[in-house]
Amino acid sequence: MWVMAQYLSIQDALDKGSGKVSIRGWVHRERGSNKLKFVVLRDSSNTIQCVFKKEDFEKQWPEIDHLQIEASIRITGDINKDERAPTGYEVRVKEYELVGPSENYPITKDQSVEFLADNRHLWLRSQKMIAMLKIRSTVFNSIHEYFRSQGFYEYHSPIFQAVQCEGGAELFSVDYFGKKDVFLGQTWQLYAEPAIFALEKIYTISPSFRAEKSKTSRHLTEYWHAEMEMAWAEFKDIQDYAEGLIKHVVQKVLEHHKPELEVLRRDVKKLEPSMKKPFVRMTYDEALQILDKKCKMKVQWGKDLRTLEEEKLTQLYDVPVIVTHYPKVVKAFYMTEDPKNPKVVQGCDVLAPEGYGEIVGGSHREHDLEKIKKRLVAQGEDPAQYEFYLDTRRYGSVPHGGFGMGVERLIAWICGLETVKDAIPFPRTMERYKP
Ligand code: 4AD
Ligand code: MG
Repeated sequence: MWVMAQYLSIQDALDKGSGKVSIRGWVHRERGSNKLKFVVLRDSSNTIQCVFKKEDFEKQWPEIDHLQIEASIRITGDINKDERAPTGYEVRVKEYELVGPSENYPITKDQSVEFLADNRHLWLRSQKMIAMLKIRSTVFNSIHEYFRSQGFYEYHSPIFQAVQCEGGAELFSVDYFGKKDVFLGQTWQLYAEPAIFALEKIYTISPSFRAEKSKTSRHLTEYWHAEMEMAWAEFKDIQDYAEGLIKHVVQKVLEHHKPELEVLRRDVKKLEPSMKKPFVRMTYDEALQILDKKCKMKVQWGKDLRTLEEEKLTQLYDVPVIVTHYPKVVKAFYMTEDPKNPKVVQGCDVLAPEGYGEIVGGSHREHDLEKIKKRLVAQGEDPAQYEFYLDTRRYGSVPHGGFGMGVERLIAWICGLETVKDAIPFPRTMERYKP
């Protein structure tokens, strides 16, 4: 008698390569004739061609013959090398069980972006999404790995917050039992700085929320934010950790995900320099000069770099560019002034190559209580709301700093995606919050 054995993943079955295997998964493709049915079966690990012969399944044949895309099945059979099969092996099925039928799966070839977004819950099963989701999982893991290996503690801030950190215009307010001054966090920063006095080196990966009115390939309203904060840091330390983190993540993705990058048609040669070579570092002033000389783009001093300018600048290099010392007027209230030139701040953006632009924003933090208060007022804030935060400068303040990295932006660059929307399972944007 043919006894159902333990199930192997499709990849393990491919690695085994001969003999009897039991596998289970979803019908990725199917075609048939009156005597044969070919099914390409998919699980999370890979795909494999399975062949059913009518002579082996007299009773079950009508059901097998009718098998449609995304039906779930369990099979047992003999696996053999077959050059013609998509992954090089074929299973001749001996035992078959339908687990979950599927009729008229709505996703077929050549559907619009809009249709795929409406059917995101099903589109997750596509080869491209599976590849991205696997890389995404490794990206998260390697962020944890990097920070922990550098002696950082994982620490968490609240998401309901009563202060703003990155500009009030982009806050989502929440009806908090009728209270009106509660927002979804844009960053952990104001709740992280108090904790460096306890743990010194901390990091998190958490959702952040921005009421971005921009419909661009870089903006989500809900994104995952990897942030770090550390005591006793100089400005250079912040840049070094950001570079170290990105290098580590790129290295891990290249180490584990060549097949997935191939599915995404990502040219890995474009990623390798970022793993091996130091990043380019330049001041805002130098960036303006380079934009002027090499790109014929004039930026007025005091204006933030726009997407287009970031794009042109990063296209000049094969590694990320760290731009430092931006004008104080374009940056947040908490950044320290440069001791040599108080018009600019010790803040930096890391811009990814190939036009991907800003993936990290960070800075050294202002420790002078009066200066912070003044800058809060200048940005239209009431310092009274920030008393808890200002206490961090009253009791044993130390030089410190940190940064935040947009994880979807990093993934979009690593995977070579057209938009950050393809770097997260269910993207939230100004226009979409369903399904
Ligand atoms: O530059 P930002 O606004 O910096 C901060 O929030 C600091 N408080 C971080 C810190 O020092 N702890 O945001 C940091 C990063 C950006 O560089 C970008 O990669 C990402 O967060 N980001 C977004 N990603 C997707 N969609 C959006 N709407 C984003 N806004 C920012
Ligand atoms: Mg920024």
